[in-house]
Amino acid sequence: MMSIDVLPTQLFGFDCEVIDDILEAVKNEPYPKHKKDFPFVEQTKNSFLHKTYPVLSDYLQKCNDDLWAYLKIGEDESKLVTTQCWMNRTRKGVVKMCHTHPNSIISGILYLTDSEVPTIFQTRNFYKRGCIRIEKNYHDYYMNETVRGRTVMFPSTLAHFVPENTVKEHRITISWNTFLDGRIGSEKTLTTLAVKVL
Ligand SMILES: [Fe+2]
Repeated sequence: MMSIDVLPTQLFGFDCEVIDDILEAVKNEPYPKHKKDFPFVEQTKNSFLHKTYPVLSDYLQKCNDDLWAYLKIGEDESKLVTTQCWMNRTRKGVVKMCHTHPNSIISGILYLTDSEVPTIFQTRNFYKRGCIRIEKNYHDYYMNETVRGRTVMFPSTLAHFVPENTVKEHRITISWNTFLDGRIGSEKTLTTLAVKVL
């Protein structure tokens, strides 16, 4: 028997040069009120942070533009734009379960703190939640370090999770989703589509 990886993927990284300005902008952004021992990762009430803070919006758009230019094939006039953006706070004892980001093409994480707790990307086996396990090497992961200012972008279908934070320092990140805006494909190849992100 042989095993062949048929779904390779890539992560893309950036280093944020305006991390101090972003931190200053979002530092008082409120989270919903929870009990002290709330067992989940907390997310800010505002999930459109890119519409509130220009310094954040500009940085995310620069990442979107750089990545889309790198991935570009052909002549389409599309742009990758941010659709939702929120902040995550992981307290001691909390994990973020394995998940993907629906209704998004590329997602991103901007790390606001240094932390021993990585983001773990599940690099193999498209079938998640333990329903179908078609291969032996089910647990094959890539661990992305949590370094302040580091930014990672990835296909939104790529499953990922955050293991337990075992220290008292909070792990804080900003996440964002994207979608295409503009005219994609071409009439010549019967693939044209006009998309507008509101
Ligand atoms: Fe996520």
